[in-house]
Amino acid sequence: GSQGDLTQRILNDLNSQNSIDSLAYSILVREEHQKVVGAIKSLETLGNVISVSSKSVKCWSCTEEGLQISKEGSHEARLFSWLSKAGASVDAIKKEFPTANVALGAALKNKWVRKEGPNVVRVVESISDVVQQDLQAVVAGRHSQLSDKQLADYKKRKLIKDSDVTVFSVSKGPGFTTTISKLEAELTKALIESGQWKITTFKPFNFRAKGKQEVRPGHLHPLMQLRSEFRQIFLEMGFTEMPTNSFVESAFWNFDALFQPQQHPARDAHDTFYVKTPGRALAVPTDYMHTVRKVHSEGGYGSSGYRYPWSEEEAHKNLLRTHTTAVSARMLHKLAQEGFRPAKYFSIDRVFRNETLDATHLAEFHQIEGVVADYNLSVKHLIGMFTAFFEKIGIKDLRFKATYNPYTEPSMEIYSYHEGLGKWVEVGNSGLFRPEMLRPMGLPPNVSVLGWGLSLERPAMIMFGSNNIRELVGPKVKLEHVYSHPVCTVDKFATSNLRPPVA
Ligand code: PHE
Repeated sequence: GSQGDLTQRILNDLNSQNSIDSLAYSILVREEHQKVVGAIKSLETLGNVISVSSKSVKCWSCTEEGLQISKEGSHEARLFSWLSKAGASVDAIKKEFPTANVALGAALKNKWVRKEGPNVVRVVESISDVVQQDLQAVVAGRHSQLSDKQLADYKKRKLIKDSDVTVFSVSKGPGFTTTISKLEAELTKALIESGQWKITTFKPFNFRAKGKQEVRPGHLHPLMQLRSEFRQIFLEMGFTEMPTNSFVESAFWNFDALFQPQQHPARDAHDTFYVKTPGRALAVPTDYMHTVRKVHSEGGYGSSGYRYPWSEEEAHKNLLRTHTTAVSARMLHKLAQEGFRPAKYFSIDRVFRNETLDATHLAEFHQIEGVVADYNLSVKHLIGMFTAFFEKIGIKDLRFKATYNPYTEPSMEIYSYHEGLGKWVEVGNSGLFRPEMLRPMGLPPNVSVLGWGLSLERPAMIMFGSNNIRELVGPKVKLEHVYSHPVCTVDKFATSNLRPPVA
């Protein structure tokens, strides 16, 4: 190919002269400097055929305008040759030359033309276009003909530009030859069979060659990395993970079992996604369902209930679970049925709400939930439990505010002081589950259950410094972010490090 031609040509020329300068050579043979350098590099890999040294030099080249002038002449010279004996008006010149001002200014300064009334006329017979000649010298690599002052002047006029170029100086090496045999790159079957391999020179392996592509192993999504961190914390604290793999749940387990009345606004289709097909849940445990009906409509266990006609139809509606507490309800019911023993459960999985979507809300998100069932638990145990949990993720100095959940009493929102935002922000919700929820399940009267929950996305947004949840979840997640974001550890997440997240 052409590089082969060039390497051969360099060798031939080197044979008759002592050394070759890559830049001067590129001008001489009218090849790009980079191409000459490539040819030199490939000769260098042959070992000792050539010797190479390099230096950095300032190199001048024409700008686009400079190149045009080198071919067609300077603006002022073109103006001069356009002018007829009679001259022309300034207006006519402006019409003809887009660069009339520059051209006229320079032609006047050179005393090639003068103004005569409204006209511009020639004052000399002929001119010599020094600008064009100088630029032609630069194009030809002979910028040394120009003084530093001239070079600086043309640079200021944006006709030439300078850059630092590494120039290679080539001389004959100890093993110099003009006849290089092409090195064999591969040991083939044919070479072996013919015995030719014995007299073949092989191209050496380049063990330093970089691989073609960077290796990209599988990556956990950042959100899933954070989930595994939270999972680890729960496991360290002796919690067991609940099975959260059914996103579709019956209204019964999502709401009724949790003593959430059927008129509750959260059950409205504006807030909850109901499933059309299959619209009705198959199995709800019959005896337990009747106890739940009773506690809603008549009360019991010291409660007067909500006193409304509870509908079995409503309880059998299928929906996308709105919280993982539905799974906690199933697990607590199971625990009671199998014979109660103290238990600590957790889950971290998806829930769905019919939300108006914005930068901080999606219609689906992940809930983190911890549940502890034991004898005679109180608010002290609840606070102790989630304080220990939040401490593990670097969130200390919690404050609580009473709130309302249909299924817990008392209920507390958990707040932490956010250094970045300079205010208290809600980090979770919690409470002691109501007897109206626990007793119908068959849990003994002296057993209490505490629980707390938070979203996974909120701490994730804070940790990853994102103020748009869509960068974290869904089709707009940048794969690059998944590949490049560092291994996640929650102690990075100490309150003092929290970056201001979202409004
Ligand atoms: N399920 C609650 C929520 O959606 C969180 C919570 C869990 C509250 C357990 C109390 C007890 O916010």
